[in-house]
Amino acid sequence: MALLDGKVALIVGIANERSYAWHIAQSLVEHGCRCGFTHLPGEKNERRTRRAVEALGIAEPWLEPLDAASDADIGAVMEKFGGAFDRLDVVVHSIAFADREWLAKGKFVETPRAAYLAAIDISAYTLLGIARAAAPLMARSGGGSVMAMSYYGAEKVVPGYNIMGVAKAALECTARYLAAELGEKGIRVNTISGGYLRTLASSAVGGTSDIEGHNLERAPLRRNVEGSDVGKTAVYLASDLASGVTGENIYVDCGVNTIGV
Ligand SMILES: NC(=O)c1ccc[n+]([C@@H]2O[C@H](COP(=O)([O-])OP(=O)(O)OC[C@H]3O[C@@H](n4cnc5c(N)ncnc54)[C@H](O)[C@@H]3O)[C@@H](O)[C@H]2O)c1
Repeated sequence: MALLDGKVALIVGIANERSYAWHIAQSLVEHGCRCGFTHLPGEKNERRTRRAVEALGIAEPWLEPLDAASDADIGAVMEKFGGAFDRLDVVVHSIAFADREWLAKGKFVETPRAAYLAAIDISAYTLLGIARAAAPLMARSGGGSVMAMSYYGAEKVVPGYNIMGVAKAALECTARYLAAELGEKGIRVNTISGGYLRTLASSAVGGTSDIEGHNLERAPLRRNVEGSDVGKTAVYLASDLASGVTGENIYVDCGVNTIGV
């Protein structure tokens, strides 16, 4: 029997086949999980996400538009999901946004209020909004696992990561507070702090071109992280193997975060 047989997941954050959410979905599907997906509104976004989901071998995916900045969108997606699937066991939050103009070395101090608030809204508050909307269906399914993607820049300064670092700190803390409140419904909430991976989102962060080279020398595993490394940890968090794990942040970065200098 596969680890996730009978489980159903909602995956938020596939833009293309390089997205962390795509790798997570691939691993969940491999282990027997049924998945539904969302895409950013707009025809082009839908086409791109659909193509990526079909590459997972899912011919007629459940795919709905979601702008996570909209509580109405979140509510509508959960209602449709509940109608289409009989349960919800796993929620994957793999989204972030910040205006790239402020994601450059030396630009943090210039960040305007609106850019700061937008980054926190899309990259952190949305975990709360999505978890709240998902909780009733998850509770009816006997509980489950919510996971969100973070990065080391939440904990230490990564020049250029700037407002995203602040947003990731908020995301990790949001996950802990959600874990404390949703635990009584059997819902676990954790973050995965993934290593640097080339994606649309990471290409918006200035000054990251040398990270991959540094990792080959400095990472304890002497390599860069692969999407599948994070996918496998997502399977663990989604499964009963992590039944006692909640409110945690798990680094999947080939050990980079453990090195001081
Ligand atoms: N790539 C990395 O190096 C890295 C490292 C650690 C953590 N992360 C995190 O992983 C997550 C996924 O990013 P990725 O690197 O796979 O890049 P990506 O560009 O493939 O994914 C980002 C996703 O966020 C979605 N998104 C943005 N605004 C949204 C909104 N308002 N509503 C709904 N969706 C929205 C995009 O549509 C996209 O699917 C992010 O939280 C990112 O910060 C990435």
